[in-house]
Amino acid sequence: MKYTVVLPAAGSGKRMKADRNKLLLELSGKPIFIYTLEVFEQDLDCEGIWLAVKGDERELIEQYVERYGIKKVKGYATGGAERQDSVRAGLEMAGQPEIVLVHDAARPFISPEVIRELAERAHESGAAIAGVPVKDTIKKAREGVITETVDREGLWMIQTPQAFRYELLMEAAQRAKDDGFLGTDEAMLVERMGHPVKIVESTYENVKMTTPDDLIYGKAILASRLQEE
Ligand code: CTP
Ligand code: MG
Repeated sequence: MKYTVVLPAAGSGKRMKADRNKLLLELSGKPIFIYTLEVFEQDLDCEGIWLAVKGDERELIEQYVERYGIKKVKGYATGGAERQDSVRAGLEMAGQPEIVLVHDAARPFISPEVIRELAERAHESGAAIAGVPVKDTIKKAREGVITETVDREGLWMIQTPQAFRYELLMEAAQRAKDDGFLGTDEAMLVERMGHPVKIVESTYENVKMTTPDDLIYGKAILASRLQEE
């Protein structure tokens, strides 16, 4: 199933505690977001990439895109204060594809098989998101004392990509805006409309580069992939 992808890349990466946007940090000599772009560049079903970037980083990001030979970037949207604003700016520029994927530029290790599955499920049912089963025991605590152990059955850690019929996501985004609702992912906007959202089992490698220790894991993933070749 063909799709267009919107990549929010307009964050500042505070939790990474680097001196710049974490997406510009390098893993084995290449910026994190270039790995992400390369996955979609190489996927034949991907018809175009829209990047949401900060105004003052646009030129630098454009230079990298050119230097690494990424051809599918169709344009740049100006990101906003919240991730949801950045995604929305990207969606508004994306034309009207049948299927749109939203994927964090900070998740460079997404698997092509998961992308394919997501686009197909979204085509069938409107909305499909990537996730992995929770591995750890989950408990709730109040003031440092456990109040409840949550049954792990049916609990998922949600990732991106999140895939949608474009019209459905745009309607959900408009309603969220009208209601002043801020979600932590796109699926929440669709869920609150009462529309079912399918889950597609992803891989634990599809980690978001968020804190410094994620970079260690990222380097290890790259090293193991090199060994497999
Ligand atoms: N993002 C964005 N616009 C924002 C905030 C985030 O486009 N206003 C993007 C980030 O660039 C990243 C993705 O959304 O690719 C996921 O967000 P997150 O991991 O939280 O990145 P940051 O917001 O940059 O990091 P932090 O929350 O630590 O500051
Ligand atoms: Mg953030």
